Amino acid sequence: MTVEVSSDSGAALQPGDNQALNRQSAIGQSGDNMNARGLHVITWGCQMNVYDSARMSDVLAPLGYRPVATPQQAEMVILNTCHIRERAAEKVFSELGRLRKISDERVAAGLGRSIIAVAGCVAQAEGEEILARAPFVDIVLGPQTYHRLPEMVARAARAGGAVIDTDFPVEMKFDFLPADSAPQVEGNLTAFLTIQEGCDKFCSFCVVPYTRGAETSRSLPSVVAEARRMVQGGVREITLLGQNVNAYHGDDGEGGTADLPTLARALAALPGLERIRYMTSHPRDMDQALIDAHRDTPALMPFLHLPVQSGSDRILKAMNRGHTAGEYRAIIARLREACPDIALSSDFIVGHPGETEEDFEATMQLVRDIGFAQAFSFKYSPRPGTPAAGQPFQIDEAVKDERLQRLQALLRVQQDAFNADMVGRTVPVLFTGRGRKPGQITGRSPYLQPVHVEGSEDLIGRTVQVAITQRLTNSLAGTLIRERVCA
Ligand code: SAH
Ligand code: SF4
Ligand code: F3S
Repeated sequence: MTVEVSSDSGAALQPGDNQALNRQSAIGQSGDNMNARGLHVITWGCQMNVYDSARMSDVLAPLGYRPVATPQQAEMVILNTCHIRERAAEKVFSELGRLRKISDERVAAGLGRSIIAVAGCVAQAEGEEILARAPFVDIVLGPQTYHRLPEMVARAARAGGAVIDTDFPVEMKFDFLPADSAPQVEGNLTAFLTIQEGCDKFCSFCVVPYTRGAETSRSLPSVVAEARRMVQGGVREITLLGQNVNAYHGDDGEGGTADLPTLARALAALPGLERIRYMTSHPRDMDQALIDAHRDTPALMPFLHLPVQSGSDRILKAMNRGHTAGEYRAIIARLREACPDIALSSDFIVGHPGETEEDFEATMQLVRDIGFAQAFSFKYSPRPGTPAAGQPFQIDEAVKDERLQRLQALLRVQQDAFNADMVGRTVPVLFTGRGRKPGQITGRSPYLQPVHVEGSEDLIGRTVQVAITQRLTNSLAGTLIRERVCA
């Protein structure tokens, strides 16, 4: 799943996902000391980019950079980019044009020009092109070199010329990033934590193996240490991130390797950490141990994002997904057996090269059979350099549009039904903040639905059983069941 986050626009997202940068932007605006310089980070793409943006801010803090709310206030602007679907580069160039104008206005106002850095997956894939077409850009850096950012800033300042670093270095960035802060959303109650990065699966349509590099996992002790710091800082819910998060295989610190269920159990043992989520998973790595962990580890939330992309075996093969629709159905059946409460979310692509009406109908059938609580669906977008982009039998845009509409209509019906079915259920809600109306507080259900109740602000940060009474447009309303405070 991808999100689009911008501290400028606060684009609508998954609950809470856009909070991290807005929060960052809100602090330190006035500058804590004379040397404070403004840093404005714009983030597009997946949650991993959200995490990375926060870590880039951390790494620049010792140089005096403090987050500011607008590029106008910033001595440095970082545009953290996403390459996953169409017009990624065009969008970057148009945003860079805007940033250049702002920088020029700063110069006219006697404030000095801002350093402009382009980070993320477009930087990785099209770094040289960026410097050629936007020579005013000072720094281009790929996702694996964020720890070298201070050095790049110094070099850019000294040389007055552009610096590009899109290596896949042997050292792992996580071992060099400062440990002091972590990206947190919704105050400091929920947070993202990257545990695995890169991908070796090479799906026919996807740029990620090229932009993020080979699959690597952080060690279990380093993940646990970061999670512990988060929890000490008040975090109650952690979402573990990875492009293939369930392929996690980290050094366990004792000469062996730890898989995701082992890591989840280690994290569940941290006092104060109530909820653990992980994304994005691949069906091929959804093994029995992980399925069992959903039964045995109450902190693992019963909501799983497991992209299937297509319901047609022929297309799944063309996509190089490495599993059939039947195997996906079997995984879901085993998950539901282990954890009857589990709800599912998925990603779909319509119009992959060669997709016939019959293939598309197989996707619709799979959706009807499984029933998703939530899903993200996309028109296939040819990405330069990926195998599918060069395949024959590309599908007409009009056909893709029409299939996408049919699929989305079905998925919407399912999502509405799932939300409507919540009425009458009692679910634990982690309260994360005040509601819109006085006397209201708001939180999230195990299924990431926003839930509003009448209640005291003292409950913020706690998980309380709530009887769901009403379905609102994008959220649920309920009443507290006071005697059942979970934490
Ligand atoms: N690692 C995850 C997906 C990461 S990309 C997985 O294996 O499922 C997020 C989603 O973007 C994908 O699941 C896919 O549905 C969509 N996507 C990726 N490349 C795409 C492309 N070229 N065109 C359309 N959608 C794409
Ligand atoms: Fe892309 Fe496939 Fe890897 Fe997911 S598993 S990141 S879709 S190549
Ligand atoms: Fe986009 Fe890169 Fe994430 S391409 S989806 S920002 S891994």
